[in-house]
Amino acid sequence: EKRATPYDAIGAETLSMLVDAFYSRVGKHPDLIPIFPDDLSDVARKQKQFLTQYLGGPPLYTEEHGHPMMRARHLPHIITPQRAKAWLTCMSQAMDEVGLEDMFREQFFARLALTAKHMVNTPNEIK
Ligand code: HEM
Repeated sequence: EKRATPYDAIGAETLSMLVDAFYSRVGKHPDLIPIFPDDLSDVARKQKQFLTQYLGGPPLYTEEHGHPMMRARHLPHIITPQRAKAWLTCMSQAMDEVGLEDMFREQFFARLALTAKHMVNTPNEIK
């Protein structure tokens, strides 16, 4: 018998709502607007595929795009610690909006925070 995954716990519908709530904030965040395309529908579609497999669901992202190599795919974009923080703020607010439950939310967010840190490829500007 297969063990229940975090993907089973959140479900496809809530995951999709989470990603939509997240990108609607990304599209309004002054630190993130400069690096994202105006039309966020394709990145949202890919993020739903990615997070599905990240949480132990079917490998939808890999099936369509190959190995995730997330850090490498982010290298063309300037990602500073400030932008990582902005990304995580948008995610935390999206989690509030869809009402993720405490334990699940805490673990999922902690894991995303590590991944976000790993995506940083440029220091904050020294002013
Ligand atoms: C793509 C920014 C963290 C997953 C992108 C793109 C940008 C970006 C600019 C490209 C959008 C486009 O032009 O299509 C950031 C920033 C982050 C961050 C500023 C802050 C640390 C993360 C994290 C994850 C993630 C933590 C996963 C947990 C993705 C995925 C894509 C993507 C799946 C689509 C990749 C593809 O094109 O196949 N991100 N990202 N990102 N990001 Fe991030």
